Amino acid sequence: MAGGYDDRDGVIWMDGKLVDWRDANVHILTHALHYASSVFEGERCYDGKVFKSRQHSERLLKSGELMDMAIPYTVDEIEAAKRATLDANKLTNAYLRVVAFRGAGEDMGVAASRNPIRMAVTAWEWGNYYGDAKMKGAKLDIAKWKRPSPETIPVAAKAAGLYMICTMSKHAAEAKGCSDAMFLDYRGYVAEATGANIFFVKDGEVHTPLADAILNGLTRQTVIGMLKDRQIKVHERHIMPEELEGFEQCWLTGSAAEVTPVGSIGDYNFEVGALVRDIAEGYEKLVRA
Ligand SMILES: Cc1ncc(COP(=O)(O)O)c(C=O)c1O
Repeated sequence: MAGGYDDRDGVIWMDGKLVDWRDANVHILTHALHYASSVFEGERCYDGKVFKSRQHSERLLKSGELMDMAIPYTVDEIEAAKRATLDANKLTNAYLRVVAFRGAGEDMGVAASRNPIRMAVTAWEWGNYYGDAKMKGAKLDIAKWKRPSPETIPVAAKAAGLYMICTMSKHAAEAKGCSDAMFLDYRGYVAEATGANIFFVKDGEVHTPLADAILNGLTRQTVIGMLKDRQIKVHERHIMPEELEGFEQCWLTGSAAEVTPVGSIGDYNFEVGALVRDIAEGYEKLVRA
């Protein structure tokens, strides 16, 4: 049985070197710990190949740019770091977490241009993100917090600061016996879950929130492509919460979540129907193709 995430066997790639898992530590005055100057990626490796690996590395660099934090590695260097981490840990099916952050240095105020930008790559075996929800459908709460406006924070960045409301909302959801929470955005439109995008089915067509205040997930984009290949109409649009009543099926997408059916959101119920099963199975095949 694995211990806490800081107490495991294996190695972690940190700033260009593979270090023992338990020695992959940072100083308490690391800028990211105080001011959330951190961006990250969550990816999955299937049978030795990281799905959409380069796109994840490109998004990491983009997130850094959006946060005024130039990550001092190229996509090729990030790819090599991921490969080295998987190989050193002898992993072929794994979850990868790549994180880039402002370290400790000359500055300890909000501005920190003199502090180094650091990067680490970790990987471990990780099963279904929502446990047995893949069969039964996940139970979702509706978060009291709202996804912020793009004028408030760079919403396209996969940045640590955006996850503050996710942790709080997921804790509240778990306290009610739910596996996750769905957010509305600052305008009141249906947005996304705490770590996954959301899709709905009505009359054989699919509806998903427009990616103007959510993370435009790589799995979301993959699944939209799969639906289009199946000649299924996809409406990327603003969705009002009142519309939930009329939707028949619902699912979540994410690198960790993969394609997970949703059984309920608050008082609204959905069937784990033929389309969601088809897309979940199709995605499982695609990632291993
Ligand atoms: C808030 C949020 N939305 C959506 C996603 C799905 O993104 P992707 O499919 O690129 O993993 C994630 C996961 O990274 C996320 O954290």
